[in-house]
Amino acid sequence: MEHKVTDAEFYKVFAIVSVIIVGLAIFIAILSNVFAGHASSASENYKVEIQSDTNQRIAPSGKTNLASNPSIKQEVIVASVSAKKTLTGQEVYNTVCMSCHTSGAAGAPVIGNNNQWSDRLSKGKDTLYANAINGIGIMPAKGGVSSLSDNEVKSAVDYILSESN
Ligand code: HEC
Repeated sequence: MEHKVTDAEFYKVFAIVSVIIVGLAIFIAILSNVFAGHASSASENYKVEIQSDTNQRIAPSGKTNLASNPSIKQEVIVASVSAKKTLTGQEVYNTVCMSCHTSGAAGAPVIGNNNQWSDRLSKGKDTLYANAINGIGIMPAKGGVSSLSDNEVKSAVDYILSESN
């Protein structure tokens, strides 16, 4: 028996195939949207990362922890020192002089070491004041913080001496 495809049957099959094709197209569109969405959010993340790196680089140095870099540390100290009025000897010592004179870095006489300081003191206190203010050997003038007043440096010297006898 011969089966004749009627117009009605043809349209039915045609409709089903069309629906499948359209459905497939929509499915692909959704998939590509999902993947494209991922791609664009990745580049969005990248932009955010670049921006935060940039922010970090242009941030004021006082906000960054540069404890391992002594030269920059001095600048941070300058900022914190200049923000205040007159500092006591102990404050000056703790913010500026301590970095060298507690450890003996670069051959600095160590605070609390009576022998080292009585040697220095034999030159006379005024010489110690003057050398602390103007610098001596490796020690920079005023410990590298030029915004300190002479009197602040002197009181820091007094503080060191009082802790070292
Ligand atoms: C960068 C390290 C450093 C800092 C910061 C520093 N000193 Fe010194 N200081 C030294 C060194 C090194 C010497 C020994 C220099 C020498 O005899 O050649 C020294 C020596 C001295 C002396 C003895 C000077 C003399 O005539 O023998 C005094 C006083 C002194 N420092 C005071 C201070 C005071 C006060 C501060 C803080 C305001 C300070 N130093 C900060 C490194 C430092």
